[in-house]
Amino acid sequence: MSPLIISVLATLFIILGGVTVFIMLEMTGRTRDHTGKTGRSLAGSLTWIRVHKILGYLFLSLFTLMLVFMIRKVAGFQEELTARAVFHIVLALILIPLVVIKVLVVRRHPQLSTKLPMLGIAIFTLSFGLTGITAGYYVLHRSNLTYTTLSALDNDVLDLELGKAIMNRKCSKCHSLERVYRAYKSEAGWAGTINKMALLDSPNITTFDVKQVLNYLIEQQKKRQKKSGVSLEKEIGKTLVSRKCSVCHDLDRVFGAGKNRQEWTATVSRMADTMGDPGFLSDQEKSDIITFLSGRETEQ
Ligand code: HEC
Ligand code: HEC
Repeated sequence: MSPLIISVLATLFIILGGVTVFIMLEMTGRTRDHTGKTGRSLAGSLTWIRVHKILGYLFLSLFTLMLVFMIRKVAGFQEELTARAVFHIVLALILIPLVVIKVLVVRRHPQLSTKLPMLGIAIFTLSFGLTGITAGYYVLHRSNLTYTTLSALDNDVLDLELGKAIMNRKCSKCHSLERVYRAYKSEAGWAGTINKMALLDSPNITTFDVKQVLNYLIEQQKKRQKKSGVSLEKEIGKTLVSRKCSVCHDLDRVFGAGKNRQEWTATVSRMADTMGDPGFLSDQEKSDIITFLSGRETEQ
């Protein structure tokens, strides 16, 4: 279930609940008007009772459907639940007995029917809270699922210290920071990687975080490069080789071989074929590796 579908279902859920409660209030509120005047009242109108009933059952079906999704999702959770998730589950569970009691009263205990409006309002209020913390949350964070890059407009908010702090905190959740520091990438390459990470950890890594970390890593890389005096292309090629070409054999095998550009092109293609996974090396990565390996002999 994508967050978008859930948001749409949840919005439909409260609209249905809201309209149902509105009709109920219109019917009961006006019948008990002490002047005895009913005016444009909906009271007694069989049509409205029927509409109320149909909407009520639609509401009930939607609730059941979402409950099933929720239980399936919670059952699949590996980590501890967040406070938001726990609150959401508790609200949903409280709704179950309220809805069951409401249906029971309507069907079997008409003498208690004066209590129905209060029950209806309670159910609607809880549903509203339930929806607010899911649909609302995703609507607010939806913009974070778009691809983020740096633009000139960001210069005012970018801050290296902040970028470093965010990176230390958020990028060490699933792997070591060493993995981040060891990589060399072009600006587009970093944008690609960090956006991918943000998607993996959505909505924990926000657009703001992506920009700060991206800025920090690019600047950090420039500084390292100035210190080492090695061109960025070479560093990119070198980290790619040590990451990708050590999967099946020692890097000695790679660095020990003397080949010209044409021969490296053939070898790298052959290695990629051996791996058999089209996602193993992109065309850009292949060309970075080939440039690095064939430039090595002449420059050293
Ligand atoms: C939700 C877990 C998670 C978080 C949080 C996370 N990563 Fe990753 N990261 C992964 C996984 C899984 C891989 C290996 C899969 C891959 O290479 O695509 C990976 C691989 C990487 C790599 C090596 C692969 C490459 O493309 O160069 C880098 C660099 C990286 N992450 C940087 C970051 C940065 C920077 C952040 C913080 C913005 C971050 N990661 C946050 C899960 C995460
Ligand atoms: C899927 C496993 C695998 C990966 C990944 C891999 N290799 Fe190899 N490599 C092999 C095997 C198997 C051999 C020995 C058989 C052969 O030469 O085809 C080999 C041999 C070599 C040789 C010696 C033979 C020759 O043609 O000179 C070189 C050099 C080499 N690999 C370079 C690389 C480079 C560069 C990369 C990274 C782009 C890489 N390998 C990635 C499996 C791999």
